[in-house]
Amino acid sequence: MRSSDTAPGNLGLFSEEELQQPPRMEHLGPQSLALRGFALPWIERLLPALEQVLAQAPFRQMLTPGGFTMSVGLSSCGQLGWTTDLTGYRYSATDPQNGYPWPRMPEVFRQLAVAAAHAAGFADFTPDSCLINCYRPGAKMSLHQDKNEHDYSAPIVSLSLGLPAVFLFGGLQRSDRSLRVPLLHGDVVVWGGVDRLRYHGVLPVKDGSHPLLGQQRINLTFRQAGPTLELDRKRRSAEQGGQG
Ligand code: SIN
Ligand code: FE2
Repeated sequence: MRSSDTAPGNLGLFSEEELQQPPRMEHLGPQSLALRGFALPWIERLLPALEQVLAQAPFRQMLTPGGFTMSVGLSSCGQLGWTTDLTGYRYSATDPQNGYPWPRMPEVFRQLAVAAAHAAGFADFTPDSCLINCYRPGAKMSLHQDKNEHDYSAPIVSLSLGLPAVFLFGGLQRSDRSLRVPLLHGDVVVWGGVDRLRYHGVLPVKDGSHPLLGQQRINLTFRQAGPTLELDRKRRSAEQGGQG
């Protein structure tokens, strides 16, 4: 392959043609989509930004409220970071490991998340939180709903990097059957609206080595976790007796 066949920095893994393919969209539900390869054209800007975030807030294994150590390593960036310990699940403005604010959300992260939400039909996504999950081979995420956010009006935008994984996408009840969705490096899944509270999880990641990320899968989950500006405005206005 001639070097002119590849975009700069993509290490020859994808041809210019592949990078310019419109992402293939697969409906997983009425308001859920897998955007295949959506992030591939962004990778060369995403990875250095990710490295910087992780230098400030390295992966750590957190405890669940039930006292189990999660197999997935966690970090966060943005105004709010999702954390868990023996006292429960919550969002925190500071990294419990050092008491400092979480690293800022890199602009390229925000832009990718907004573009993916938009492509999936959700305008005005303003993520204030990016949870970063690291799955080494064998690590998994049990079925759960994302429901520690202030409200559920915004979608969840989830980017997969590195090793492949099988994403379980269930229903609104834990006992509902789950779809098994293979996710590859560069795929983005978006769910919101009527699908916002669907159970989801990840099967144990199989051993392997990804050419860019080695022996791991990294997942970035973008959320609007705190109150939206619009909600803030309404609340302030109500507090002031409905003026403004
Ligand atoms: C999550 O639900 O927090 C992670 C999903 C994933 O890793 O794909
Ligand atoms: Fe989740």
